[in-house]
Amino acid sequence: MSKRAMRLAEKYRPRKVEDFIGLPKIKAVVLNFLKNPYAAAFLFIGEPGVGKTAFAMAMAEALHSKPLHLASETCNYDNLDKLLRELECHPTFWNGEHAKFHFVLIDEIDSTTQTAQRRLLAKLDASELVDNTVFVFTTNTVKSLDKRFTSRCIELEFSLWGAGQEVADFLGQVWKAEGGTGKEPDWSDVISTCSSNRIPNVRACLQRVERELLARGVNVVLADQVRINEVTNLPEIAPELRPNCP
Ligand SMILES: Nc1ncnc2c1ncn2[C@@H]1O[C@H](COP(=O)(O)OP(=O)(O)OP(=O)(O)O)[C@@H](O)[C@H]1O
Ligand SMILES: [Mg+2]
Repeated sequence: MSKRAMRLAEKYRPRKVEDFIGLPKIKAVVLNFLKNPYAAAFLFIGEPGVGKTAFAMAMAEALHSKPLHLASETCNYDNLDKLLRELECHPTFWNGEHAKFHFVLIDEIDSTTQTAQRRLLAKLDASELVDNTVFVFTTNTVKSLDKRFTSRCIELEFSLWGAGQEVADFLGQVWKAEGGTGKEPDWSDVISTCSSNRIPNVRACLQRVERELLARGVNVVLADQVRINEVTNLPEIAPELRPNCP
């Protein structure tokens, strides 16, 4: 765990699937998947700050896997190809002894290169699916994604539509837990200014809480940041550990 202090959005990131605000259908799908997990690819679609990346991290934790994070700007053909080969060759190399699955998280899949997306297409076919890996891709929109790609994924639409009261209650709890003083902000007002397409952005709401606390001179107690494994520098693997690999 990095010692770098992290802001409220990290401090209050739900660690368990069941702890997320709203998203009842998504929680049901994923909790059932986690009871009997298998090699699969999920596509999380939704407005910013609704929990897509945080949810992927909670899934990885439930699978005892360390999420491998390929950031969209480094998700080019070469890096992806290298990662896919390593995953196939090393059932447990990345994850430690308790994990049964590699967990690969690629955020903003719509901004990756076309060649990287094509490389994934083949890998996500039922016949070729890397049998020890769960993929999660996140995106704000599917507009630029190839149908052949999206149709190979379990698509889950993240929306906090209708969860305004739950978000307001949560912000009130954070406010109290952080020792907020004076008149409590009007949470419905905060939520409506921190929404995209009328969907509450929880990250933006937490930033507002942080700003209001600072404005009142309250010291925000920061948490340590949990870092996910960046996979831009794949370590070389000893030849004896990779007998079936080129
Ligand atoms: N449904 C939710 N329940 C509880 N907290 C949430 C939820 N959604 C977001 N958050 C809070 O907001 C933070 C940011 O969420 P996250 O990074 O998962 O958003 P995102 O959907 O991936 O956004 P983006 O599209 O901008 O990447 C989380 O760490 C958490 O603190
Ligand atoms: Mg995200």
